[in-house]
Amino acid sequence: MQLVPMKDLLDEAYKKGYAVPALNASHLEFIKAILEVAEEQRSPVIIQTAYEEIQYADGGKTIVDLVKNIGYDKDVRVAIHLDHGPNFEAAAHCIRSGYTSVMYDGSFLPFEENISNTCKVVEMAHAVGVSVEAELGQLGTTEFGTENNNAHLTDPVKAKEFVERTGVDCLAVAIGTAHGLYKGEPHLDFDRLKKITELTRVPIVLHGGTGVPDRHIKKAISLGVSKINVSTALRKAFIEGMQKHMESHPEDLMTMYILGAGMESLKEEIRNVMKMFGSAGKL
Ligand code: 13P
Repeated sequence: MQLVPMKDLLDEAYKKGYAVPALNASHLEFIKAILEVAEEQRSPVIIQTAYEEIQYADGGKTIVDLVKNIGYDKDVRVAIHLDHGPNFEAAAHCIRSGYTSVMYDGSFLPFEENISNTCKVVEMAHAVGVSVEAELGQLGTTEFGTENNNAHLTDPVKAKEFVERTGVDCLAVAIGTAHGLYKGEPHLDFDRLKKITELTRVPIVLHGGTGVPDRHIKKAISLGVSKINVSTALRKAFIEGMQKHMESHPEDLMTMYILGAGMESLKEEIRNVMKMFGSAGKL
């Protein structure tokens, strides 16, 4: 296994026109499924954990150790990334734990405060070769339907200034996606995305990958998206696999078989994602 800075994976994807799947994981079953499918599909991959997921795992070191132990004999190229880091301390914790990338999410702060906090994280992370993602604009939530009328879409000119002043390695933007399950088809603002890519010239990150139709994913990638986050779809597949198993084996008390059934269904979802994002075969 090669554990690499996320920047290495994204710069290559940006140049070659595919997106690296950034898959949320907080326990052994997800990490094992992701690494097994990454090796099988010869796909680079980002294993990411949101702050709550790190708390569930009792700290970032558990995640790093699981990835290293499960991946040590696998032919895979992996970055371990903090998703939606809430503050400087969370980024520092992950860097000390061995993460190769961190996100600092100051998207809810005023522009200048987001810049100044991001700069501090960039200075710390870059000093030790760790990549940094930041966010500008705010994603909608799926509770309000597909219109994302509560989203604040990213301003391309501000994005240029943000990237230039902070030196981030990639930028998460709001162009119409949202976290969670959509009630209908999401509307993505591709003109805005095109302008952002032209002005910033860094790999762009799309959050809320669950439920975005294939053709939108492909178009977004052609316009500079190089990292796509997927979480809900993975959890849904895992749960459905376990539910199906319990329906056909209601007496089963072997948790390893129940979790194993969840993992098989999760692995199929990960395969689909890697093929859709064009990362399969790009090891
Ligand atoms: P989904 O749960 O909608 O796939 O979004 C994941 C995400 O963007 C994590 O940051």
